[in-house]
Amino acid sequence: METYLETERLALRRFTADDADLLIELDSDPAVMRYLSGGEPTAPEIIRELHLPRILAGYEKWGGDLGLFAAHERTGGTFIGWFLLRPEAEGPLDEVELGYRLRRAAWGKGYATEGSRALLGKAFSELGVRVVWAETMSVNHGSRTVMEKLGMTLAGTLPTPPDMATVEGAELGGVRYEIAKERWERR
Ligand SMILES: CC(C)(COP(=O)(O)OP(=O)(O)OC[C@H]1O[C@@H](n2cnc3c(N)ncnc32)[C@H](O)[C@@H]1OP(=O)(O)O)[C@@H](O)C(=O)NCCC(=O)NCCS
Repeated sequence: METYLETERLALRRFTADDADLLIELDSDPAVMRYLSGGEPTAPEIIRELHLPRILAGYEKWGGDLGLFAAHERTGGTFIGWFLLRPEAEGPLDEVELGYRLRRAAWGKGYATEGSRALLGKAFSELGVRVVWAETMSVNHGSRTVMEKLGMTLAGTLPTPPDMATVEGAELGGVRYEIAKERWERR
């Protein structure tokens, strides 16, 4: 396993074509999917035929530096979920999105903050990134708290996408947080 990034407790690596089952299991927990699909699992064939091929294609496109990364506990190797650091499909490479989706068993241990903090550090110090942004539903307090702990600030509100209209809290829309390199370095 080639490590992309290590933190005190986590190791992040690139996904491989053999990882569909990890992604399928992660997306099968209604609690994990609560603010993403309203709790509906992602269909295994969508993961196998669409999501995983897109993740792998992203490594080709961005030279393995950006994309979605599998996270494991360094002690014991348990898969805890994924983090993403990636530009928009046709967007500039120096403006990237941060995201995370962790297995329920891994919540409440500071892992989302720890992994994200290391990713921001890498983005700004090694990858030439200028701005990192993240979006979530207004009611996703866990996700918002992670963003705030990272020093990201609220940059605006967003309409709920039509395909998320039935998700709990959709009427309150979404939020976008951002942090620029200068602010990260001054924190
Ligand atoms: C959101 C998520 C990534 C948080 O992961 P986590 O590893 O538990 O987060 P951390 O332990 O780093 O917590 C950071 C802070 O958020 C707080 N927090 C976490 N979940 C919370 C919740 N549901 N409500 C309120 N605060 C919460 C923690 O208490 C902690 O604050 P503290 O250090 O002051 O105690 C995780 O719950 C998850 O993967 N959820 C499902 C997928 C998802 O919604 N992803 C985000 C989509 S935009």
